[in-house]
Amino acid sequence: MSLDAALLAIDRRCGSSAVITDLDVRETHAHDESETTPVVPEAVIRATRTEHVSAILAACHEHRIPITPRSGGTGRVGGAVPVPGGLVLSLEGMDRIVAIEPDDLRVIVEPGVVLRDLHAAVEAEGLFYAPDPNSLESCRLGGNLACNAGGPRAFKYGVTRNWVLGLEAVTADGTVLEVGKPTAKGVTGYDLAGLVVGSEGTLAVVTRATLRLVPKPEEVATLLVFLPSQAALGDAITACLRRRVIPRCLEFLDALALDILRPKAGLAVPSEARAMLLIEVDGEADEIPRQVERVGEAMLSAGALDVLLARTEHERASLWAARRDMSYAMRRQARHKLSEDVVVPRTRIGALLDRCSALSEEHGVRVATYGHAGDGNLHVNLLWDDPDDRPKVEAAIVGLMRATVELGGTLSGEHGIGVLKAPYLPLEQSPALIDLQERIKGVFDPRGILNPGKIFPAGAKRFHGAC
Ligand code: LAC
Ligand code: ZN
Repeated sequence: MSLDAALLAIDRRCGSSAVITDLDVRETHAHDESETTPVVPEAVIRATRTEHVSAILAACHEHRIPITPRSGGTGRVGGAVPVPGGLVLSLEGMDRIVAIEPDDLRVIVEPGVVLRDLHAAVEAEGLFYAPDPNSLESCRLGGNLACNAGGPRAFKYGVTRNWVLGLEAVTADGTVLEVGKPTAKGVTGYDLAGLVVGSEGTLAVVTRATLRLVPKPEEVATLLVFLPSQAALGDAITACLRRRVIPRCLEFLDALALDILRPKAGLAVPSEARAMLLIEVDGEADEIPRQVERVGEAMLSAGALDVLLARTEHERASLWAARRDMSYAMRRQARHKLSEDVVVPRTRIGALLDRCSALSEEHGVRVATYGHAGDGNLHVNLLWDDPDDRPKVEAAIVGLMRATVELGGTLSGEHGIGVLKAPYLPLEQSPALIDLQERIKGVFDPRGILNPGKIFPAGAKRFHGAC
């Protein structure tokens, strides 16, 4: 059988401890942190070095066995969920921070490094790696690169792709490539690092990344802003930017999200507050008071009820712990939850929130919203208890996707398309654009063995021409 032949080849090249067929291990690699239906892989392959990744992929290519790469497994769209009859390639064991090079402002990492550990290591040297998806305690760099992860600090500092200089990546037939440039600049050839980042593990497996660093900001200030309604959000963002301040974070929480955060963060929330912003500014210590003042003025001019400054490190930490837990806390609000990750131009965020409220009413589905409002990126959560309500939820999601596209937006800001959003891709992208991307996939992976069924499954065609 071809699966047996592939596993035998992997066993020979990588050692028998690399191939794990125990059911409990296979089951823990059957799902990510999304609602995607789990699929138990035939085996989990643990790689510890690039040559092994190359040999594993070459064996899968030769024997036509599907294989799904995975690092932290914290994805939100099923990107790391294998296909039936397939394998999982675990990169957790490749978890070395290979070198921190302060004078070149860069760090070289393997894909299994936990993001929090990277932050701690570079910050100990007075340096800063900005991307901070809220799963940073457990997510790993491989997944961050695969999904082009963002996080609250993307407002000022951009997303993972903006921090990647060069990658060592292995294509589906086992070829090891250096893509991108490990230098501060470099324009030779196509930007294949830019293409691999965000390709959700469908084009190549990253085995090493050279990431850009900057000096760690000297000081940070955290502000809490209470709004009388979510309608004030768009004006609040505009007022801030017009005062020439780009906060590093501008996070929004609607009334339900605020109710969840309130007890955990120990907040004294004004009773009239119906929404909250969590804003952070950073920079040199002497710039902070001016930035705080301008943000405060901007918020009051946009109708904020109150603006508070987090006074202590403890206050900041408990606020962020509550914010970072929001997606898990949201899941506890109902028996079922689907979470979307849409983005619109930031000036249209008020219109997007109005559309969410209208969809909630029209379809009778509870909707709660929070997220990275400074980037126009909202996590829209659909919550329901009765399994029979699923069709209503589907209809509301299609409405949300259409509204997002009409407002000039995009379906996913940071979580990716994976399995869950694939049916909606044609609502945003033309058949010609999808076709071009599928042909690029065919060049990198002619036999379609590398993380198949993601981004462009056949089912995606069902919405073609529908909007
Ligand atoms: C967050 C994750 C869900 O922002 O992206 O909490
Ligand atoms: Zn997010």
